[in-house]
Amino acid sequence: MRSNIIIAIDGYSSCGKSTLAKALAKRLNFIYVDSGAMYRATTLYFLNENVDLNNELEVENALKNLELNFNSRDYQSHITLNGKEVSDEIREMHVSQKVSEVSALKAVRQAMVKQQQKMGKSKNIVMDGRDIGTQVFPDAQIKLFMVADPLIRAERRYNELKKLGYNDVTFDEILDNLNKRDYADTTRKESPLVKADDAITLDNSKLTEAEQLAFALDKVRPFYNFE
Ligand code: DC
Repeated sequence: MRSNIIIAIDGYSSCGKSTLAKALAKRLNFIYVDSGAMYRATTLYFLNENVDLNNELEVENALKNLELNFNSRDYQSHITLNGKEVSDEIREMHVSQKVSEVSALKAVRQAMVKQQQKMGKSKNIVMDGRDIGTQVFPDAQIKLFMVADPLIRAERRYNELKKLGYNDVTFDEILDNLNKRDYADTTRKESPLVKADDAITLDNSKLTEAEQLAFALDKVRPFYNFE
């Protein structure tokens, strides 16, 4: 029985997982870990190094040379790749277009899951992703599974990218990328995105951020006294 508290938030791309996870971490003073950022940073590294995804040895070697670190102090999950901050770069479309392929590789998943489990060994954490409640922390006390209308999700991602200054990306491109990633994430062989039996579904299509936080805190309360 673990003594630290784990809040696992899984769901489709751009469902508002990280917004809720950050709000929870801030409210509860937990550490926030954006597991998607780890797959994205790995993808960026593979792209930069021209790693052949069909060559197992090349993939294994690349994983050995890859160091990912989080600075979670401000709950914004600044991620560094071999010492360089890449938090914005990993959101670019060329990374989004390749990340499903990279995250479907068994060796990549094993390396990421190992690192994620280490992070959750003793500290209270909120981690969001696709397999957190099923593979990474099947024993998490609180598991949320987030869903939202695809058009609303695409609009959110579009606004997020605009805010970062990526003005040449179109709404249709984003919607297409989301649909493709949903398909790839749910049908891949290694740890496909599925709702854990004991996860609670949260459809946030019509909920404000405050309402989502209140919903989640209600689920945390039986396990952790934060008042
Ligand atoms: O959460 P995100 O959209 O930034 O994640 C990027 C990709 O990483 C997503 O398409 C699937 C993959 N991913 C994964 O396979 N497992 C996780 N735990 C988190 C993300």
